Amino acid sequence: MDAQSFRPVAPVRLVVLVSGSGTNLQALIDAAADPAVDTPYEITAVGADRSGIEGLARAERAGIPTFVCRVKDYDSREEWDAALAEAAAAYAPDLVVSAGFMKVVGSRFLARFGGRFLNTHPALLPSFPGAHGVRDALAYGAKVTGCTVHFVDDGVDTGPVIAQRAVEVLDEDDESALHERIKEVERLLLVEVVVRIARHGYALEGPNMRRVRLGHE
Ligand code: GAR
Repeated sequence: MDAQSFRPVAPVRLVVLVSGSGTNLQALIDAAADPAVDTPYEITAVGADRSGIEGLARAERAGIPTFVCRVKDYDSREEWDAALAEAAAAYAPDLVVSAGFMKVVGSRFLARFGGRFLNTHPALLPSFPGAHGVRDALAYGAKVTGCTVHFVDDGVDTGPVIAQRAVEVLDEDDESALHERIKEVERLLLVEVVVRIARHGYALEGPNMRRVRLGHE
């Protein structure tokens, strides 16, 4: 990651990337629309790697501009990555949030948004990275799992951890029941982290510059 700190100027401009149902996106939309809260960010666009998904419909209902970049529309993964970076950059985001975006971005995207690109993952990293965090934790027999909001680097779910919350695995859980309980916690955590970073920024510390210190009042 290039950036080692972020000092926000409110309102922070957010681009959110989605691939599916978009309930995490909805939590960010709802928080921004809540008149009782002085939300320090605005969602300037929602991007997706596929069309026809509920995540995009949620954005449209909220009057937020959308864009779609499908891998299959480009000759190479590199071209897709560059196009995704361009599409997001058109909305001049201060932060980009991957909220259920099921693609690994490449070097062009990271060169543009490294240190300003957050992801939410449904497991306690570094355990169970990848596309099946919930399924893998369940299959392993973990008794506690949860969610992680982290910065994206050039690995798969390997970037510095910003915040985590634990969720107990119950004997009767299947993947869908466990994922739903994780998502209840995850939505709150994601909003909390985005609000805090948008309001107070962050700095990276420690011998490997991996310890994220969020700013505060
Ligand atoms: C979330 O649980 C998110 O952590 C996960 O997809 C879900 C999206 O839900 N992402 C990953 O697994 C990425 N590896 P949503 O579309 O309802 O926000």
